[in-house]
Amino acid sequence: MSVQLSLSERPKGPVLSAAAYAQIDRELAKYPADQKQSAVMSALRIAQRETGWISPEVEADIAAYLGMPPIAVHEVASFYTMYNLKPVGRFKLTVCTNLPCALRSGNQAAEYIKAKLGIGFNETTADGLFTLKEGECMGACGDAPVMLINNHRMCSWMSNDRIDALIEELKADAAKNPAVSAGGQ
Ligand code: FES
Repeated sequence: MSVQLSLSERPKGPVLSAAAYAQIDRELAKYPADQKQSAVMSALRIAQRETGWISPEVEADIAAYLGMPPIAVHEVASFYTMYNLKPVGRFKLTVCTNLPCALRSGNQAAEYIKAKLGIGFNETTADGLFTLKEGECMGACGDAPVMLINNHRMCSWMSNDRIDALIEELKADAAKNPAVSAGGQ
């Protein structure tokens, strides 16, 4: 998929905050000056934490900042499921459905969440709280069914009861901290 932006669509100024560029600069300092592209994953992570998702404008901005073709940034952003190429809800639930997990009820867990939340994969609940994603192996096959919350929190042995408890916990967290923005992380 091409992500070439027309001239009028290309970012005309900074897309991220000064603080985000400062964080990217700290990542760039870890690599030789002619290897800026080595920081692309960190730059995408920093951008996503701030903007919630990786838009074509963000990709183009990172590409310009790191001196890379926009398509090369897109190839990275679209390869790893931790990057959101569309806006997501406040809680992104990524369920592993790879074979080892599928053999240990990973798919059933995903189906249970779909029915419970009324959404399919890559969809977000109407209240903007939950987005459901299908994930690749998370290196925790023995803990299946497993899922990640917002890329960081691993949840193991997700029976229906544990899924129920998790959803209630996240809803309560959202009610307690309504100002926290979606996606990112
Ligand atoms: S296959 Fe699901 S964690 Fe490995």
